Amino acid sequence: MNTNEAERQNQYMHRVYEINSIPSAKRYHISTFGCQLNENDSEKLEGMLVQMGYSKTENLEESNFIIYNTCCVRENAEQKVYGHLGRLKKLKEKNPELLIAMCGCMMQQKHVIEHIKRTYRHVDIIFGTHNLHKLPELLYTLLYNGEKVIDVWETDGVLTEGIPFERKKGVKAWLTVMYGCNNFCSYCIVPYVRGRERSRELDDILNEANKLSSQGFKEITLLGQNVNSYGKELEKKLSFAELLYRLNGIDGIERIRFMTSHPKDLSDELIDAIRLSAKVCEHLHLPVQAGSTKILKEMNRKYSKENYLELIDKVKNKIPGIALTTDIIVGFPGETEKDFEVTLDVMEKVRYDSAYTFLYSKRTGTPAALKQDQVPEIIKKERFNRLIQLQNTISKEINDTYVGQKVDVLVEGISKTNKDMLTGRTGTNKIVNFSGPAKLIYKTIKVHITNSQTWSLDGEFIS
Ligand code: 5AD
Ligand code: SF4
Repeated sequence: MNTNEAERQNQYMHRVYEINSIPSAKRYHISTFGCQLNENDSEKLEGMLVQMGYSKTENLEESNFIIYNTCCVRENAEQKVYGHLGRLKKLKEKNPELLIAMCGCMMQQKHVIEHIKRTYRHVDIIFGTHNLHKLPELLYTLLYNGEKVIDVWETDGVLTEGIPFERKKGVKAWLTVMYGCNNFCSYCIVPYVRGRERSRELDDILNEANKLSSQGFKEITLLGQNVNSYGKELEKKLSFAELLYRLNGIDGIERIRFMTSHPKDLSDELIDAIRLSAKVCEHLHLPVQAGSTKILKEMNRKYSKENYLELIDKVKNKIPGIALTTDIIVGFPGETEKDFEVTLDVMEKVRYDSAYTFLYSKRTGTPAALKQDQVPEIIKKERFNRLIQLQNTISKEINDTYVGQKVDVLVEGISKTNKDMLTGRTGTNKIVNFSGPAKLIYKTIKVHITNSQTWSLDGEFIS
């Protein structure tokens, strides 16, 4: 640990201690929008809040500190946040002691901060994606000086380790291995709000994985905007494949998943690591975004339709039975009906197990937002529906092939939709619902698949 880091930790603990010693009841509520990286950041925020003596509540009325961890990847994510924020105004009028903080990706945009300052004056603290660890400091400033605080760092700072996580109870945990993105896909705001790629040190990741194992977690999902470029800028260079081999050796961890991979960086070494590491699940999330090579070029994705399909063939040949999932954007500027049909063609050729499909959303500050040939909403929606329909048919057909098979299921808990059933997942990430005793929860068991749905499988517990 260098002097700066030691000083940061010292200052951090000091503030935590001071807030913790405030005698009144402290209750927080946190809402998280967006991706798993944000979910994992919120677990860190919750870790800090618990250290400061706060306890969690789902009830807005009884909380005295509300935090929104925001997302700006698409416009509807931002609109949701503004909707919630508007409703908090009344709550703050009823309870002036209530403190409201906003953080996450939206806050890294200047126009958003200006809008919040003008329109939502009831917000007390604003911070960004690069200085989460400053929460105790910012809260202290607000509590002791009574001043509203805006602290957003424009550039990505050093990675801070050692902040505790308050993780959701269960058998699965997120583990962020790198932050930021260098790819600048022309539609995407992420590189502007999350900064450049920064990998965590191997030892920090291994320590965290060991800790997760000792806490009883059996499945870890490694997170990063583009995990395939993990380790490139570390002093002691290390590939993502090497990281997987190292994590594969951790006792107690039974399953390793990761996301997201950029097709341009998916190396043979990584495909081999998935194949050869027993704990790395037979599932690859490989966003294609669009089928047409012309659109892919406009998106700055750096591969063609043919490159992508060749890559998929290679993966399927090396790892038979691997589940493939993807992200697809419909209605990127300039997308013609013909271009869209190529996306449908790719979907049919790859036969994804499932796809996250999105309507293109114009993001201020990205090159694609300046394009003149935006696709009308009505056309986007029509294409979107056709895409979903095709994917649903394929998903159901793939799920049908599971019927009659015996599969390994890591049991996650009681089914949300039917309290008499248990639910878990296969290595290929299929949801399996079945009846069985509660003692099976968090165990890996064999299930005989008896029926298939579009999004899940039904089965019977065997052993
Ligand atoms: N509009 C629609 N979808 C987007 N994504 C990223 N930026 C946009 C945008 N401007 C999607 C991509 C990415 C996923 C996380 O979000 O498909 O892989
Ligand atoms: Fe956005 Fe592209 Fe980076 Fe993914 S790889 S976060 S889509 S810029």
